[in-house]
Amino acid sequence: MKLKPLTKEDITQEYIDWLNDPVFSKYLCYPLPQTRETIIKFIDSYNNSSNKVLFGIFTDKHIGNVTVYFDIDEIWFGISIKPTEQRKGYAVEALKLVEAKYAHHGKKFMAGVKPTNQASIDLFKKAGYKMIKVMMEKIGGRVK
Ligand SMILES: CC(C)(COP(=O)(O)OP(=O)(O)OC[C@H]1O[C@@H](n2cnc3c(N)ncnc32)[C@H](O)[C@@H]1OP(=O)(O)O)[C@@H](O)C(=O)NCCC(=O)NCCS
Repeated sequence: MKLKPLTKEDITQEYIDWLNDPVFSKYLCYPLPQTRETIIKFIDSYNNSSNKVLFGIFTDKHIGNVTVYFDIDEIWFGISIKPTEQRKGYAVEALKLVEAKYAHHGKKFMAGVKPTNQASIDLFKKAGYKMIKVMMEKIGGRVK
């Protein structure tokens, strides 16, 4: 497995389809439907940023993404694996790679996980993280 910055050339119909899978996208914060254009904007938002990075996770093909956000004292990770490649240990392996890449920063590694996303909670526990914070939400607070 390797991580490489995701580019527009990595946008295949298969990738567009898995982003639009309602089960896959349930806990992720992007609007549906996703199209080539919305994905290009997403990739560009990372390319034009100095405090976040978007990696594709690749075996012989693109199987997922890891996002990295640099906060003052913390580095935040987000991860997703294509539905047909889940439960094969890829997320744990990708987290190890991205943690090794940024270990020299000496910052705490963090992940924002929704309390109902059991797969993700179990993943991060397996990867050595512990639960520390409570999430609060206010309906109507979303900016359209
Ligand atoms: C969460 C997610 C990234 C896990 O990826 P994955 O490659 O399937 O995870 P792994 O195979 O490395 O599994 C590691 C551990 O995570 C937990 N896990 C993974 N999928 C799970 C599921 N569907 N239900 C319960 N636990 C699950 C298990 O503890 C698993 O260890 P085990 O297989 O030995 O029981 C994947 O389900 C996903 O992409 N979901 C949609 C996007 C998402 O919610 N991302 C997280 C945002 S914070």
